[in-house]
Amino acid sequence: MSIFKMINVCFEDNGQKIINNISHYIEQSTVTAFLGKPGSGKSTALKLLAGLITPTSGSITFEDKDIHSMTHKQNEAFRKRASFMFQDSALWANQDIYHNLELPLLLHFPDMSAAERKDRIKKITEIVEFHKPLIIRPASLSIGEQKKISFARALICEPEILFLDEPTESIDEKTEDLFISILKDFISQNKTVIYVSHDNYLINSFLCDKIYFEDGEIKEKILLDDINQIDDYYEGDL
Ligand SMILES: Nc1ncnc2c1ncn2[C@@H]1O[C@H](COP(=O)(O)OP(=O)(O)OP(=O)(O)O)[C@@H](O)[C@H]1O
Ligand SMILES: [Mg+2]
Repeated sequence: MSIFKMINVCFEDNGQKIINNISHYIEQSTVTAFLGKPGSGKSTALKLLAGLITPTSGSITFEDKDIHSMTHKQNEAFRKRASFMFQDSALWANQDIYHNLELPLLLHFPDMSAAERKDRIKKITEIVEFHKPLIIRPASLSIGEQKKISFARALICEPEILFLDEPTESIDEKTEDLFISILKDFISQNKTVIYVSHDNYLINSFLCDKIYFEDGEIKEKILLDDINQIDDYYEGDL
């Protein structure tokens, strides 16, 4: 089943065309990579798909509901099921790490007890191997540590769908291996991942549909369903 359908999507800002007429369907329990040069429109396409920005024209649906005309309640339900990890982490600067991780739980699980929230926060920080005190604020963390917290925040509500924008940018090899193993575990649970990356090590870590962007358009798609020989898959220009 196609959970996401983007049909003839355009996005303009101040008359500037940033995304130009892209169409793509994403099936449930698949991994999709948005690839392409800097400035080609990958992050914008990911934000459009996640409903964070609104297309100028065209339609984007999630389970056949238009993401941009969902009711508040439908939108909250979608947000609970789909998390977004931003390219620049986008942690709340005026909140400590604990509250950065607690806020999604407070929003999406209002009946969860404080003890259970604490337990979830402890578990997720252990999973991403973040060992600093949680009372510090994001500004005190390195970029790589911020990525860990951003990843933890995306995972804390146990979503079905992950949107990841350059999840392994600015992190060391050990942390990258850790992120990849967490993602492999996530994917093995038949969940859906849509990510943007320039990182060939990450891209070659699991099979995925590859969507290549150029100047705000989709230039090429390499879809697993179309591949007869697995060797062809690795010949694609990353
Ligand atoms: N709201 C906006 N207003 C004006 N220009 C924008 C806006 N958002 C993005 N752009 C421009 O659109 C182009 C695509 O941006 P986008 O962030 O999607 O690229 P990207 O492929 O993710 O690049 P990178 O690999 O560097 O992250 C860029 O030239 C960017 O400056
Ligand atoms: Mg980007």
